[in-house]
Amino acid sequence: MTILVTGGAGFIGSNFINEWIEQVDEPVINLDLLTYAGNPDNLREIAGSPQYLFVHANICDGERVGELLDRYEVRALIHFAAESHVDRSISGPQSFVQTNIVGTSRLLDAALPHWRKVSDFRFLHVSTDEVFGSLEPDEAPFVEACTYKPNSPYAASKAASDHLVRAYGQTYGLPVLITHCSNNYGPYHFPEKLIPLLINNAISGKDLPLYGDGRQVRDWLYVADHCRALRMVLAEGKPGQTYNIGGSAERQNIEVARTVCAVLDDVRPRQDGRSYGDQIVLVRDRPGHDRRYAVDTTKLRTELGWEPLQNFDAGIEKTVRWYLEHPDWVASVTGGTYREWVARQYA
Ligand SMILES: NC(=O)c1ccc[n+]([C@@H]2O[C@H](COP(=O)([O-])OP(=O)(O)OC[C@H]3O[C@@H](n4cnc5c(N)ncnc54)[C@H](O)[C@@H]3O)[C@@H](O)[C@H]2O)c1
Repeated sequence: MTILVTGGAGFIGSNFINEWIEQVDEPVINLDLLTYAGNPDNLREIAGSPQYLFVHANICDGERVGELLDRYEVRALIHFAAESHVDRSISGPQSFVQTNIVGTSRLLDAALPHWRKVSDFRFLHVSTDEVFGSLEPDEAPFVEACTYKPNSPYAASKAASDHLVRAYGQTYGLPVLITHCSNNYGPYHFPEKLIPLLINNAISGKDLPLYGDGRQVRDWLYVADHCRALRMVLAEGKPGQTYNIGGSAERQNIEVARTVCAVLDDVRPRQDGRSYGDQIVLVRDRPGHDRRYAVDTTKLRTELGWEPLQNFDAGIEKTVRWYLEHPDWVASVTGGTYREWVARQYA
């Protein structure tokens, strides 16, 4: 049998596939459109593996997806493909509607007839804690049963796709699993996102911009811990169930920035002897910016025995070192269309 991964050339998908090929003896097909966020270079180490097949396609092309599911007798579809950047969803929501909502519905339609032939088929939908909205400082972390209150167009598009996935489970009996993960960090993270942006701006001598007062709280999870949780949910999760995944590592953005700067001060000190922390600047807040996210992972821990293995400070150090060791990767993904987008944002 085979698994089909969508969006496997992106940040989390490529980490997932690299680990899958290393740890699991089962072929994997990676269906990816290679948008600005998708980079085949993330998978260069496994590109020649007989276990790996790359298919350049759009998740909205349901016919193509259906053909792949049947031809390769796919037993599980792990759905990462998405437009994933909140800022981009504010300046241009339509591609989020198209990929995250329409794309997911096309995958579900393709999966339905296939599942009727492959009865132990699973559809694993990788979603986010952002669908639950924002927490007050003293509120308990989100549990799986929390009400959806998405605030950004990105979160709303993911919420809509979650509802479709759930509905295909309820209405047709498709064996679906949904995960809600908190903020990930680690290798191959596109440098528009906070942690790689801080690292790259710092060593390029640029400002380290933080929205508003920099006190927004996110619950950080090292990407390998997310990938391991997904393998466990796929293997042992109950169809129709949702699972929260999070690092229990709540940090204010300003704390994250200071941690990154402290590592850089240690491993690549500034030539003028000052701290990278001096480059931190507060900028105008993002509209509708959620104040705090945090997830309660009791269900995943008690039912499936998962727990995060990477602690935050050591994970950040590992991540900073990875970016310092991979300047060519950073240069390749931040050229072309990314530069044009940044120029438009800050014009
Ligand atoms: N990054 C996080 O912290 C985080 C946290 C929780 C959940 N998630 C979810 O995990 C998934 C992966 O996130 P990521 O950070 O790796 O995203 P990413 O932006 O790094 O990668 C997205 C991938 O999807 C591909 N893609 C986009 N549109 C496509 C289309 N129409 N057809 C086929 N491929 C397409 C891109 O080429 C890219 O390879 C997303 O669904 C996201 O909502 C991410």
